[in-house]
Amino acid sequence: MTYGESDIIDTIERLARTDVAALTQEQLDGVDQFHVGGPEAVARLLPGLRLGPGARVLDVGSGLGGPARQVARATGCEVVGVDITAAYVEAARRLTAGAGLTEQVRFLHTPVAGLPLRGFDAAYTMHVQMNVQDKHTFYADIARRLRPGARLAVYEVCRNGDVHPPLPLPWSLDGGDSFLATGDELCRTIQDAGLAVVEWVDDSAWAAQWFADLGRRLSATPAPLALPALLADGPARMLNFAIAVTDGTLTVQRGTFTAA
Ligand SMILES: C[S@@+](CC[C@H](N)C(=O)[O-])C[C@H]1O[C@@H](n2cnc3c(N)ncnc32)[C@H](O)[C@@H]1O
Repeated sequence: MTYGESDIIDTIERLARTDVAALTQEQLDGVDQFHVGGPEAVARLLPGLRLGPGARVLDVGSGLGGPARQVARATGCEVVGVDITAAYVEAARRLTAGAGLTEQVRFLHTPVAGLPLRGFDAAYTMHVQMNVQDKHTFYADIARRLRPGARLAVYEVCRNGDVHPPLPLPWSLDGGDSFLATGDELCRTIQDAGLAVVEWVDDSAWAAQWFADLGRRLSATPAPLALPALLADGPARMLNFAIAVTDGTLTVQRGTFTAA
């Protein structure tokens, strides 16, 4: 099962040889951002979200919570993360408590369709829709939770044609939960779900460069704390992803949309 890791905090503490509350921000950045580009990718989404003081932001598929904590720290906004993987929600809460951000950032174990909250000032979703078969419903459920004029930022992985990359991948161990669309299909689906496109950018070259830099960082001695060490088959999943982005089998798309 993809996302089946149940001992994330214990693994981080074992590898770092310290309590999670004692980790440096640089150490956390290496493990709590589950997408290509790490915190730099989150920073690329922020301007499009147009967040002002007091805004309430929804993170759909919040994972271990690195992006939510970064958005909260960078903007002072309140962030609500939702995710369907219970162990990730629990790890996100523990890491958030360690960072002293529980007043500002919270995580709920629910699909977005089950979220009772409405009227968000902005939302974002990073590297999630690859797992979602019914993408129209997924984005329509997000759109319904936004106030009119609110922004949605997406940062997603797409296929570049009919060729599928070798498995395992970060979002799928056996392919049974991987539903890759092309960039054009994904952009159209989001618009069909009621969101007007502001920007739709192919970030693949930037992502490929980030992977190359990561490879250099991970070959240092001692190796820094890194997400692949926490995941089942992590190094193979990350390597397949890096190769597929670099050889053009996959693209990485960044977009901004506005709720009607
Ligand atoms: C590759 S991780 C990305 C996590 C986070 N967005 C990040 O970038 O650090 C994908 C996450 O999406 C979650 N997920 C998959 N399908 C989902 C769905 N339908 N609704 C909410 N979360 C979902 C998984 O549980 C996992 O935490």
